[in-house]
Amino acid sequence: MPSILKSDRIRLTAITNDDLPQYATWLSDFGLQRLVNPGMSMPHDADDYLKPDSWFQADLKNEKSRMFAIRTVQDDVFIGTCALINLNMFTHCAEIGINLAHPDYRGKGYGGEIMELLMRYGFEQFNLNRINLGVMGFNKRALRLYERLGFKREVVEREIFFHDGSYFDGFLMGILRTEWEENHVYVTHQRG
Ligand SMILES: CC(C)(COP(=O)(O)OP(=O)(O)OC[C@H]1O[C@@H](n2cnc3c(N)ncnc32)[C@H](O)[C@@H]1OP(=O)(O)O)[C@@H](O)C(=O)NCCC(=O)NCCS
Repeated sequence: MPSILKSDRIRLTAITNDDLPQYATWLSDFGLQRLVNPGMSMPHDADDYLKPDSWFQADLKNEKSRMFAIRTVQDDVFIGTCALINLNMFTHCAEIGINLAHPDYRGKGYGGEIMELLMRYGFEQFNLNRINLGVMGFNKRALRLYERLGFKREVVEREIFFHDGSYFDGFLMGILRTEWEENHVYVTHQRG
């Protein structure tokens, strides 16, 4: 049976200790921080991630989260991370996040492939009814991608982010399982 966590070009795997130096370098990049977490604004040290009380270990152990490394199928390059967080088994909701951190792999359609895998994982493995996300208003590429995938802008959070001396709007977006199924009938058929 084909893996639900693999597409033609990418696969989602565990994050290993070998990935951490690269991960910390990426997360230390203020340009990337601006896109994924504008409040962060601090350098990262991979050694800190190994400490039992670090936010990274807490995230890894959190049973309401599933964090993945994104790797290329062809040459096994670590190109970023993605996650489902705040999995709620009563409301059947979760948040989704993606960080295609390796700059060489942005703008080539990988983001859509990764999101499709993770959404399918959420809907078909966790029986989710709804997936949410938050995005900065200036992240036009991410907004375009999420809308193409069927997410709807549900809430505008005015001046919710502060970065480099300015406030920025953000959006909360969501997609229901029924909306996802309408766009992804072919996936269900393929898996037959
Ligand atoms: C955001 C991200 C997931 C997008 O994935 P990607 O593979 O780089 O994006 P794609 O190549 O699939 O492009 C997505 C869409 O945005 C469009 N796009 C690209 N740059 C754009 C821009 N500046 N303005 C508007 N649309 C843009 C593309 O044309 C494409 O549209 P299409 O679906 O109609 O062809 C990825 O770039 C990423 O992780 N970036 C860094 C971290 C980040 O921003 N994470 C998201 C936080 S909410």
